[in-house]
Amino acid sequence: MRVVELSAADTHDLRRRVLRVGTVTTSVDFDGDDGAVHLGVMVDRDVVAVSSWFDRRHPDRPALAGVQLRGMAVEPSLAGTGLGSLLLAAGVERMRSDGAGLVWARARDTALDFYTSRGFEVFGEGYVDLSTGLPHHDVIRLL
Ligand SMILES: CC(C)(COP(=O)(O)OP(=O)(O)OC[C@H]1O[C@@H](n2cnc3c(N)ncnc32)[C@H](O)[C@@H]1OP(=O)(O)O)[C@@H](O)C(=O)NCCC(=O)NCCS
Repeated sequence: MRVVELSAADTHDLRRRVLRVGTVTTSVDFDGDDGAVHLGVMVDRDVVAVSSWFDRRHPDRPALAGVQLRGMAVEPSLAGTGLGSLLLAAGVERMRSDGAGLVWARARDTALDFYTSRGFEVFGEGYVDLSTGLPHHDVIRLL
């Protein structure tokens, strides 16, 4: 098992199967994908977890060099086995070494505990994300 850098296209299969089931939009292309860092976990030749990291300040914390984490998804049959934690920790360390001051995400409410147990704080009021139709909160981790 190893954390590797991926292309945007490498993330599409998991984005589609995990993040675009029953959602308002089915698109797996994210704005800014071309300039983002895409990190994943590979087991043998299979991509089993993906995440994408965008150089984007949080609108309410513009003074800090922000990175937005998007598209965090783990192969469903392997959910709960530690892959998401491994990838999140590796990505945060990579962003810290690249000079980021904070990492933030628009987190699904179903995943809030995952983030808050791993150093993130819920920030602001909840909202319904338009592309998925699902309830979300922003989460922030200062680095
Ligand atoms: C959320 C997710 C990235 C976590 O990765 P993971 O590899 O399953 O998580 P780990 O095994 O490292 O850690 C387990 C934690 O994830 C949570 N988790 C497990 N399966 C989950 C699921 N299907 N959805 C949300 N959270 C889940 C567990 O509650 C556990 O939390 P705890 O340790 O604080 O009690 C992954 O389950 C997933 O892809 N979920 C569906 C898509 C999603 O919600 N992505 C995040 C969008 S913001």
